Amino acid sequence: MARTLVFGHRGASAYAPQNTLPSFQLALDQQVDGIEFDVHLSSDGIPVVFHDFVLDHLTDGTGLIHEKSLADLKQLDAGGKFGAQFAGVRIPTLAEVFELVGDRVILNVEIKSRHQQASRLIGEVIHQFGLQSQVIVSSFDLDTLSLARQAMPDIAIGVLHEAILSDEHLKLIEAIRPQALHPYYQLLFHNTDYVTTYLNSAFQVNTWTVNDPAHAQKLQQLGVNAVMTDYPDLIRAALV
Ligand code: G3P
Ligand code: MG
Repeated sequence: MARTLVFGHRGASAYAPQNTLPSFQLALDQQVDGIEFDVHLSSDGIPVVFHDFVLDHLTDGTGLIHEKSLADLKQLDAGGKFGAQFAGVRIPTLAEVFELVGDRVILNVEIKSRHQQASRLIGEVIHQFGLQSQVIVSSFDLDTLSLARQAMPDIAIGVLHEAILSDEHLKLIEAIRPQALHPYYQLLFHNTDYVTTYLNSAFQVNTWTVNDPAHAQKLQQLGVNAVMTDYPDLIRAALV
């Protein structure tokens, strides 16, 4: 049985502020096979790595991330709310994450931004770093993925989903030509059809967010390609 790959979800986000450089460095230290992170655009069109649409919960700022310039975002503390030892940690740009991680591991770029230009601008940074073969672009939003496919014909795409894919959904994703499906992991436990249909298909199946080692072992037995976890050290130790 092939070992299931371990992706650090927002880095090693159980131990460091999510989607920050310390979180990604820790994930690398914990021997991940990949990292997953979320991307928005600043108001001046720079791809930045951050999960929420609003700044209030994860930083000392307020308001919508896409209404702030990069210079404004760089003033914010994205670490202090997680722990005093991380005070002053900044929201990284996509380029800064690529500079840190390079081509050492798989880079799962989840596009959160719904801006029409997001895929193009993110694609430019991926190409600038020559990381096309390391990247999987994912999104819950099929329009975003269609734009990503247009902007990046050579990139691997993963379709994020929380519910079983309907026939209508499947028809829409056909044109996107995804390489992977990124289901919420519980779908695989509760739907045997999903398992028989997709785990034996040409799609890679990369699941999230798997923080229980027993769940990770079960998913490995089912044959998933990767699990995304906030605890890369624990999950890696459970998968041999
Ligand atoms: O990419 C997998 C997972 O991160 C999707 O949900 O909300 O954690 O970005 P979320
Ligand atoms: Mg995500």
